[in-house]
Amino acid sequence: MNRFDHRKYRPTPVVPMHDRLWPNHTIEKPPTWASVDLRDGNQALPEPMNVAQKRRMWDLLVGLGLKEIEVGFPSASQSDYDFVRRLIEEERIPADVTVQVLVQAREALISKTFEALKGIHRAIVHVYNSTSTVQRERVFKRDREGVKAIAVHGAELLRREAANYPETAWIFQYSPESFSNTEWDYAVDVCDAVIDIWQPTPERPCIINLPATVESSTPNVFADQVEYFCRHLSRRKAVIVSVHTHNDRGCAVAAAELAILAGADRVEGTLMGNGERTGNMDIVTLAMNLYSQGIDPAIDLSRPDEIIQVYHQCTGLPVHPRHPWVGELVYTAFSGSHQDAIRKCLHQQQPDEPWQVAYLPIDPKDIGRDYQAVIRVNSQSGKGGVAYVLERDYGLMLPRWIQVELARIVQRESEQQPGEIDSETIHALFLQHFVAAQGPNRLEGYRIDRNDEVEAIEAHIDDGCGIRTVKGRGEGAISAFIDAIARAGGQRINVVDYVEHAIGEGADAEAAAYVYLNIGGRRVAGAAIDRDTVNASLKAVLSALNLAQSDRRAA
Ligand code: KIV
Ligand code: ZN
Repeated sequence: MNRFDHRKYRPTPVVPMHDRLWPNHTIEKPPTWASVDLRDGNQALPEPMNVAQKRRMWDLLVGLGLKEIEVGFPSASQSDYDFVRRLIEEERIPADVTVQVLVQAREALISKTFEALKGIHRAIVHVYNSTSTVQRERVFKRDREGVKAIAVHGAELLRREAANYPETAWIFQYSPESFSNTEWDYAVDVCDAVIDIWQPTPERPCIINLPATVESSTPNVFADQVEYFCRHLSRRKAVIVSVHTHNDRGCAVAAAELAILAGADRVEGTLMGNGERTGNMDIVTLAMNLYSQGIDPAIDLSRPDEIIQVYHQCTGLPVHPRHPWVGELVYTAFSGSHQDAIRKCLHQQQPDEPWQVAYLPIDPKDIGRDYQAVIRVNSQSGKGGVAYVLERDYGLMLPRWIQVELARIVQRESEQQPGEIDSETIHALFLQHFVAAQGPNRLEGYRIDRNDEVEAIEAHIDDGCGIRTVKGRGEGAISAFIDAIARAGGQRINVVDYVEHAIGEGADAEAAAYVYLNIGGRRVAGAAIDRDTVNASLKAVLSALNLAQSDRRAA
């Protein structure tokens, strides 16, 4: 039999629901965020965080505005225990931040957990046991009632232990681990039994957290499971429904979003999606998804570079350059048509209107990225990217006909030297191909006399063999100069187009001139840069002439 055999697997059962409401809902506000970076994230690291790293991560999470933070598993790990104690004893928990700790539904572990939290002003104690069919049958070897009894016992222990520490405002949380692989009616049954023990009220709710411990279905199936749960739970108003999705199929964020539509109030996740296997739900992505839809995510993601730096220091993990919203390359367009569209939209975007820029779903400036990184050039890039880079870095606003030719030259170059071409190289290619360097003709000096709308020029050109003087007349300096060259060389030259602009502002500003000539039936572009506009335009004509001569020599 073929080893790669799909018949080995079965589809996840779907809730037989035909009146689902969630597809008609929209997300209008952020969920309550709960970070599990210091627990789920930490336990998934090849090298778990040391105390200093945990502190750095804690400070980051608090700084971002996260108000519920699961800090560890103090009954199972001495270092988690010590970390919780330090937070409490060093008074590092702001009044509006609630620490959460995880514990299995087992007596000794639960008392140790409360002991770890002694003296805290408020805390969430999160108890869990697995309820899925496979865990019941193959791991615990217990039937439905037997597994429900574990949950009920855990709930009772929490209630009992909490009574020993009345100075703390306790919030109870229960997770039917592997909820998404648990029969939906049974999940409700177990959670109702836990809720019966805790007797929450709308004023003092408990949290029921629904994990997709291993993601095994499409997000709509998970949404159905969450909606079914919310509609069948006995005291829905006294419960904060939370979801905790993992990313095995790459849809943890989507599953959480659909779960919010289906009624979830709270979402657990980690920064950058660190966590077991393929990770937890990525809080940064979900929050930025909301932000990009005009919803305040209620956490501050304006400095993702800082988040990435601390994340890397604490977890040792890199962030993919294409990580949604914050990766190094996500505001960079390589494709020519994308570059062109971005450039056009950025030019038209007004500061006081809603963001409308093709290929840029948000303004990169919002998160401390700037347009410098937006467009880079490689062999896929077209004229738009090349033009953008020269305008951005050198103030050169190339006319279309030079953009087209330069893009071809840049493309040739990047095919010979694969990879990205930086703006210095593009600038050098521009100078080399369009600015006078190709041939011998250099302007040594000139005199222009204006008489009755007609300009008469006498110009001195060094053609490599000596200085020759040419004379011509025309309606402007350029046409007079071209007339002079055409007479001297006996060739027909017409101006197809001419553009000039200042580079920068003020007295020091230089002028850039671009001419497009038809020389003996062939179109040639030339450019020049000079302090003086007339100098620049005459030199641009010579650049085009030089280019035509060197092309003729090469032909
Ligand atoms: O993924 C999971 O099921 C968990 C629980 C402990 C909430 O991390
Ligand atoms: Zn988890």
